[in-house]
Amino acid sequence: MSIQKNSEVVEPMEKDRLRAAAMAAAEHAYAPYSRFRVGAALLLEDGSVVTGCNVENCSYRLTSCAEQGAIARAVAEFGPKIRVRAVAVANLNDAASMPCGACRQTLAEFGEDGMVVLYPGEGGAMEETTLGALLPHAFRAEYIG
Ligand code: THU
Repeated sequence: MSIQKNSEVVEPMEKDRLRAAAMAAAEHAYAPYSRFRVGAALLLEDGSVVTGCNVENCSYRLTSCAEQGAIARAVAEFGPKIRVRAVAVANLNDAASMPCGACRQTLAEFGEDGMVVLYPGEGGAMEETTLGALLPHAFRAEYIG
């Protein structure tokens, strides 16, 4: 997927680091129902990396995605002003996958359209896009004043 011109600039080494952090977080996933183990790693403005994993529930709709867990943890650790420059998602199932729609909107709350999104493509290679490409016209806080 093509990179938008407003994309955040993230160094290749930082991308590799984020992906590794997402993979490590996926090891902690609680996914006894889907067995799809997901990790997410956020790169914050100050260079901090915050991870999360999916946490499922026997009442299936209460499942929390890895990205949502990472955002909640980042806010808890660093406060409500966090801004996310990049996010990597990974899974231990060797599957190509991207953040779900709900997670895209959750990420949009704490970053710009140029947020870099790293995800596993077909064959396991790390692919890159932006949040704006995945969620054009996100619902934004400005709308509600
Ligand atoms: N999942 C995530 O953690 N992130 C996503 O963006 C997509 C889906 C999780 C939720 C559920 O535990 C499992 O993957 C299968 O849907």
